[in-house]
Amino acid sequence: MQNKKMIDMIKIDKYYGDFHVLKDIDFNVKQGEIVVVCGPSGSGKSTLIRCINGLEEIDSGDILVDGVNIWESKKNLQDIRAEVGMVFQHFNLFPHLTITENITIAQTLVKNASKEEAATTAIELLKKVKLEDKATAYPADLSGGQKQRVAIARSLAMKPKVLLFDEPTSALDPETIGDVLEVMKELARENYTIVCVTHEMGFAKEVGNRIVFMDHGTIVEENTPDEFFNNPKSPRAKQFLNEILSH
Ligand SMILES: Nc1ncnc2c1ncn2[C@@H]1O[C@H](COP(=O)(O)OP(=O)(O)O)[C@@H](O)[C@H]1O
Ligand SMILES: [Mg+2]
Repeated sequence: MQNKKMIDMIKIDKYYGDFHVLKDIDFNVKQGEIVVVCGPSGSGKSTLIRCINGLEEIDSGDILVDGVNIWESKKNLQDIRAEVGMVFQHFNLFPHLTITENITIAQTLVKNASKEEAATTAIELLKKVKLEDKATAYPADLSGGQKQRVAIARSLAMKPKVLLFDEPTSALDPETIGDVLEVMKELARENYTIVCVTHEMGFAKEVGNRIVFMDHGTIVEENTPDEFFNNPKSPRAKQFLNEILSH
């Protein structure tokens, strides 16, 4: 991990209508850092990470990614969207495209890569997520866990500076979760900068540098995984941990 701030959110407020979803949030992530965001449903976790790549507008505050203020100009916003990879709970693959085409399409459209270049990258990435045998298959032929690994490969194809994961394993059959977590752990070891919303506490303990616990639109507590799990400070974090550990 380096000292450079890769993500810097400063005094962020966001409303959905009258509903104050993010309340004066300060949040930053260093280059190479793995941050796990957890907290009860509805606490604002998805909104927080969707703000990082400008998928959600904010009402006040500043968001800098690698030093660039994303809302300062249209160009900044476009650049950031190409540099911040996002993996969602539901994979959002194109059903009518093959696995390889799903991975190459953004490279050719957004990054102006040649077809050959994009195809070479796709083969490398399919190896990385252990799906090289699925290159010509369609999403419908894959299990949920395999689709999620394709979605990860698709994000990596853009050579992102930051990877955002929003509950990447929570819609998967239990038996396919492990392979997805393995790929994510590998990325964590490769020094990607990662923000991951997840309740997979094994993942958090193994590769997380920091846990951020949210509730009602605020960051209630942040700490190393060891401290957070063994010695949660706030009553809300204690209650949350009791609930997820009893499942
Ligand atoms: N587009 C939207 N319009 C209105 N309310 C929303 C919208 N998206 C989320 N919300 C509300 O904002 C709150 C936080 O949502 P979200 O960020 O998805 O939380 P989490 O990911 O922690 O479950 C929830 O109460 C949710 O219902
Ligand atoms: Mg969410």
